[in-house]
Amino acid sequence: MSQTPTHALPSYLNAEDLGPWGNYLQQVDRVTPYLGSLSRWVETLKRPKRSLIVDVPIELDNGTIAHFEGYRVQHNVSRGPGKGGVRFHQDVTLSEVMALAAWMSVKNAAVNLPYGGAKGGIRVDPRKLSASELERMTRRYTSEIGVIIGPSKDIPAPDVNTNAQTMAWMMDTYSMNEGATATGVVTGKPIALGGSLGRVEATGRGVFVVACEAARDRNIDVAGARVVVQGFGNVGGTAARLFHEAGAKVIAAQDHTGTVHNAAGLDVHKLLSHVSQTGGVGGFSGGQALDKAEFWTLETEFLIPAALESQITVDNAAKVRAKIVVEGANGPTTPEADDILAENGVYVVPDVLANAGGVTVSYFEWVQDFSSFFWSEEEINQRLERLMREAYAAVAQVSREHKVTLRTAAFIVACTRILQARQVRGLYP
Ligand SMILES: NC(=O)c1ccc[n+]([C@@H]2O[C@H](COP(=O)([O-])OP(=O)(O)OC[C@H]3O[C@@H](n4cnc5c(N)ncnc54)[C@H](O)[C@@H]3O)[C@@H](O)[C@H]2O)c1
Repeated sequence: MSQTPTHALPSYLNAEDLGPWGNYLQQVDRVTPYLGSLSRWVETLKRPKRSLIVDVPIELDNGTIAHFEGYRVQHNVSRGPGKGGVRFHQDVTLSEVMALAAWMSVKNAAVNLPYGGAKGGIRVDPRKLSASELERMTRRYTSEIGVIIGPSKDIPAPDVNTNAQTMAWMMDTYSMNEGATATGVVTGKPIALGGSLGRVEATGRGVFVVACEAARDRNIDVAGARVVVQGFGNVGGTAARLFHEAGAKVIAAQDHTGTVHNAAGLDVHKLLSHVSQTGGVGGFSGGQALDKAEFWTLETEFLIPAALESQITVDNAAKVRAKIVVEGANGPTTPEADDILAENGVYVVPDVLANAGGVTVSYFEWVQDFSSFFWSEEEINQRLERLMREAYAAVAQVSREHKVTLRTAAFIVACTRILQARQVRGLYP
């Protein structure tokens, strides 16, 4: 008997307000024409394999009971176990977690890590909880999603408002429930618990490595090049330091406290200690304050958005005078702005490639945990650099072949790998 054709939209989403999942679906539609016979399987990418919604009840310090909504979504596990962070934020929605999980599938496949994509979150403002409430919430959430996570099933990691301590609580809770210490159930752990050397700097280092590869393709010398960085935290601060050490001039930095500019180049080491002492770049004496909007219009070789999503939009994209944009943040460029940058010849290294250094060293952490044998930081950095360079080369090659942007090329590479795995595995039963 013939069946009605399948539809991309699951009934549990609101078609009128698809949120980030809608953006992701548009990106899949853009690459479908390049998937050849694999496009037969494309619906696989348009629905998450598994979406778990859990109630997370905890007793607050004042004796009342609070309930939080938690999620864990495994978008695709054709190429390996799920992998992706856990976010604690009051605005987390199922649509957002679904999209973030899907982008992890794409990122892991683009860099050729043996993982699928997953993501988790709790709809909570963690700043409103005490440390012990936060611990109870994290442990109860871990226990609730314990039915689908595990070192060979799905491996969470830190994301917005979660850190090494959160991962330690998650690892301990999972291990208590299993009755055996399972270090490989999460990555981004403290070193004392089987965390990896080099993990903290990995994303910024990966940004720098792919920026150097892009520069070579565009005939730009990194030594002496100008660099503009938004976000001077883990990703932006590390990337800026590596550029500085390679002889580039970081001429402007912006964060939530302000914007500093110095055409001769900021002293990045001094700026990093200013940030660690004061909490931001604002008020740094080694440069001049600059208008927030003017920051995006500076003439520069490299522009590194490494803070938030949706920073380069229709409002400022046409004014960007950078030769290369390297996306340290997730989703810093809106699809409309992306088209404007492409029209203006700005070379964009997309997030799914540029910030994959973090998950790459998470992969190394997981491998080290499995073998209980730990590598030196030098070894980790070398392996990271090789993997990032190879990933960039594969994506750049596809971009030249099909005359498409690096973002579309990264999606072509990734979706092809995922659907090839899907096809050769075949459908069960
Ligand atoms: N840390 C990782 O391993 C990793 C991996 C992949 C992607 N990312 C992405 O990189 C981005 C930055 O992450 P991070 O780990 O460096 O975070 P972080 O918290 O260490 O730093 C965030 C930075 O953004 C700045 N910022 C916040 N609000 C801002 C605003 N309104 N305007 C300008 N700047 C603002 C902060 O001041 C800070 O400098 C995020 O999009 C994150 O998802 C991080």
